[in-house]
Amino acid sequence: MAKKKSILDLHKMKKSGEKVTWVTAYDYPMASFAEQAGIDMILVGDSLGMVVLGYEGTVPVSMDDCISHCQAARRGAPNTFIVGDMPFGSYQTTDGNAVANACKFLKEANVDAIKLEGGIRVVDKIKAIADAGIIVIGHIGLTPQSAGQLGGFKAQGLHVDSARELIKDAIAIQEAGALALLLEAVPPELSKFIATKLSIPVYSIGAGLPCDGQLIICGDMLGMFQAFTPKFVKKYANVAEVIINAFKEYIEDVKGERFPEDKHVYHIKDSLEDFNKLFEEFK
Ligand code: KIV
Repeated sequence: MAKKKSILDLHKMKKSGEKVTWVTAYDYPMASFAEQAGIDMILVGDSLGMVVLGYEGTVPVSMDDCISHCQAARRGAPNTFIVGDMPFGSYQTTDGNAVANACKFLKEANVDAIKLEGGIRVVDKIKAIADAGIIVIGHIGLTPQSAGQLGGFKAQGLHVDSARELIKDAIAIQEAGALALLLEAVPPELSKFIATKLSIPVYSIGAGLPCDGQLIICGDMLGMFQAFTPKFVKKYANVAEVIINAFKEYIEDVKGERFPEDKHVYHIKDSLEDFNKLFEEFK
């Protein structure tokens, strides 16, 4: 089994040019599959609200939801670098509240790092959490928790003015002590500039090739999330189809009495005659 990556390993990979692989996983089986496949990092994203809990967005997701999913993922992937996502409302109020919630992730779910969304407006929170000794990963571009303000799930930094703001955000996040940055739904010209400018690893979800690694949402890449598919997703499997077909086959087997078969049942250890006598006693 491969050794668990540390933040130093991730920084070395930026220097050597080896790309980091990062997927979301929200439960024991998916995290275990990711670890068995050799994925470098797992994000227990608050996208769990949409992918697993069926909400329309990530805003309703609570700290308790995130902690319990992180705990399950950790049980499935004890040797993988796991990032816990700070849900909406868990870091937007005071620095103290942000640090307390970040500590909760480390103490209760044994994650390796936390991620939070936003640029200059959250750098105080990033600094406070980093000063508490916790690895912080920033996240700018399309930030789903503030999708309302952005006018929906839309690409960012497509124009010079908005790209300038994102560059300022990226620099401020590094200066505040974040040890990595995630860029979501921004053009590769911009992500290339930011990834080269920053000394910390810069990862992409929808930010093209020129980053230090890629993140993808497991529900999207495996074809399990059916509400919509973002432009930046490559589907590697159609698990929904496999599952629906399996359920349909099961329905047919049960209705047609082809399941369970003899090999699926337990066999009596005394004679049938003895069992029939027993049944007689209760008639
Ligand atoms: O919650 C999540 O999975 C995320 C990704 C959309 C980057 O934050």
